[in-house]
Amino acid sequence: MPTPDPNLDQAVRFLESIRGRRSVREFSDRPVSQAVIEHLIAAAGSAPSGANKQPWRFVAVQDPEIKREIREAAEKEERKLYEGRANPEWLEDLAPLGTNAEKSFLETAPWLVIVFKQVRNPEAEQGSEQVYYVNESVGIAVGMFLAAAQFAGLATLTHTPSPMKFLAGILGRPEHERAFMVIPVGHPGHDSSVPDIRRKPLEAIMRVDRDRSPNADEPARPLPSSMPTTIGG
Ligand SMILES: Cc1cc2nc3c(=O)[nH]c(=O)nc-3n(C[C@H](O)[C@H](O)[C@H](O)COP(=O)(O)O)c2cc1C
Repeated sequence: MPTPDPNLDQAVRFLESIRGRRSVREFSDRPVSQAVIEHLIAAAGSAPSGANKQPWRFVAVQDPEIKREIREAAEKEERKLYEGRANPEWLEDLAPLGTNAEKSFLETAPWLVIVFKQVRNPEAEQGSEQVYYVNESVGIAVGMFLAAAQFAGLATLTHTPSPMKFLAGILGRPEHERAFMVIPVGHPGHDSSVPDIRRKPLEAIMRVDRDRSPNADEPARPLPSSMPTTIGG
């Protein structure tokens, strides 16, 4: 009988939940309560951050008029991206995802959570206004938000209209806050589908200790693992 491993049991359960996460680009207008969004943001706000500066701000938007403004401005930027700003390689990489400049999800999703990073922190409870490892910190917080939403049975998209400067203007954010990500949150639309893409297998993304040669491209040793190698859809 193998020794019970409660950590493994929990890791397996978390993996089962998180591997079901996919970026959704067609949302239904089914409502999600503000209480749910508050819990997701609180989960994100529990993330680690450089020197505990918590250099993030989450603006939860549900007002249809503001969502419409965001959609219009995002589509304007995205049209420029698809019609010339993106180089051919970028467009080629996007092709399997079937994305284009049309962003109706910015109006149909019940909530848009706009994540801002803070390039200084005038509200720090102690210490200086300086912030550290901002992109790393905010990226981790976004990851925790996405995981919390998945755990709550909600769909998300990590949307990065490029450039994103218009968001600070529409939402009246101060100069030290820069838009980092737009996350529509809600339920998938009835006939919503996701592109058929693959995850790298565990062997391709994990090494245990050292590779045999300094050339890390040599075939990996099989992992001493009982885990199925598929990571997600
Ligand atoms: C930093 C970042 C930016 C992204 N920007 C966009 C975006 O602007 N529009 C979009 O449709 N998807 C965007 N995505 C979603 C990716 O295309 C998607 O995560 C990837 O294809 C894997 O698919 P999955 O999320 O369904 O597993 C972004 C993802 C990340 C992590």
